[in-house]
Amino acid sequence: MLELKEVSKSFQTPDGVIQAVQDISFKVDAGEILGLIGLSGAGKSTLIRCVNLLERPDSGKVFFAGEDLTLLSPEELRNRRQKIGMIFQHFNLFAQKTVFDNIAYPLKLQGKSKEETAARVKELLGFVELTDKTNAYPAELSGGQKQRVAIARALATSPQLLLSDEGTSALDPATSIMILDLLRRTVDELKISVVMITHQMEVARRICDRVAVMEDGKIIEENTVRELFLEPKHPRTIALIRSLDEERPLSDLSAFVDDNIYRLGFSGGEVARPLISEVSRKFGLDINLLAGDINLLQDEQLGWLAVSFPKEEPVKVAQALVFLQEQNIHISKVEPTADGNSLSAQDQVYSRGGGNNG
Ligand SMILES: Nc1ncnc2c1ncn2[C@@H]1O[C@H](COP(=O)(O)OP(=O)(O)OP(=O)(O)O)[C@@H](O)[C@H]1O
Ligand SMILES: [Mg+2]
Repeated sequence: MLELKEVSKSFQTPDGVIQAVQDISFKVDAGEILGLIGLSGAGKSTLIRCVNLLERPDSGKVFFAGEDLTLLSPEELRNRRQKIGMIFQHFNLFAQKTVFDNIAYPLKLQGKSKEETAARVKELLGFVELTDKTNAYPAELSGGQKQRVAIARALATSPQLLLSDEGTSALDPATSIMILDLLRRTVDELKISVVMITHQMEVARRICDRVAVMEDGKIIEENTVRELFLEPKHPRTIALIRSLDEERPLSDLSAFVDDNIYRLGFSGGEVARPLISEVSRKFGLDINLLAGDINLLQDEQLGWLAVSFPKEEPVKVAQALVFLQEQNIHISKVEPTADGNSLSAQDQVYSRGGGNNG
């Protein structure tokens, strides 16, 4: 459905060239939601704007429904864009227009008849459950209602692709959940593709199929949301997940700086805590639990624990890690940062069933 191939975009500024997006490739199938996460300035918005050529890439290809958008004439591009919906953080509704007219706007641009437009708007209002607000103005709506109008408007022309830049971050959690579920339902029913930027892991876990992690204009890691959470591969992904999740700060890691700290990812069936005491007994190791959390991923529970093993027992620790891997625990090595307070991943990452663990 959507495929980007080696897309790059730089900006000339008085302070020099900023390489906002570097050599990015990814694919999103019909009925699939790709989440984009990354720190501020990572290049997420620039990348998403490259998809519909609001930003023209310096190089690379953007295939949408089999066509390279970068090769189209302005008119052809305008035409294809009608199949690409966009949702922005601040909704961008027309304040002077009613809910009806806001949603009708893109249909008008397409030259649809009055009757056709009215029927479609009615259908969309039903879909986002706002029929009773047909004649209201944006100022009379709550944030969540505005967002639903924005979604209805983005869907008006039956897009095959939806792009969302922080679509839910302006909303309270309960409203977000409703909007997210609406979005998921839309994608499942209409088999559209979605690329959405999010600053909340909760959002990614709730509706994304896959997540791409961006840093300095590049995708440093891409995986299903489950695998990414269970076993982040890139050194910086763990820290990012932690910061997006607002996982509880570790009280004081300085006491453990000389230890081996690992992040253990586990899913519903695997009960980590008893396993930790089992490992402790079996291998005669003192294991400290440093932090942990359990989250709901769509309908599955995923959790993680940060534990430290004593450094003086490398052989036993290696055996314990092998044992944990055999129990389906996903292991990533982490080390405290210099301030002793936060976890950042170290280069060494254990892959499942992989090699030696000394
Ligand atoms: N029009 C522009 N001109 C110059 N530099 C730009 C322009 N747009 C973006 N940049 C720069 O490109 C880099 C990526 O910006 P971008 O807006 O894509 O980041 P982001 O990941 O969306 O960040 P945030 O999470 O804060 O929205 C930043 O260094 C930014 O300053
Ligand atoms: Mg942005």
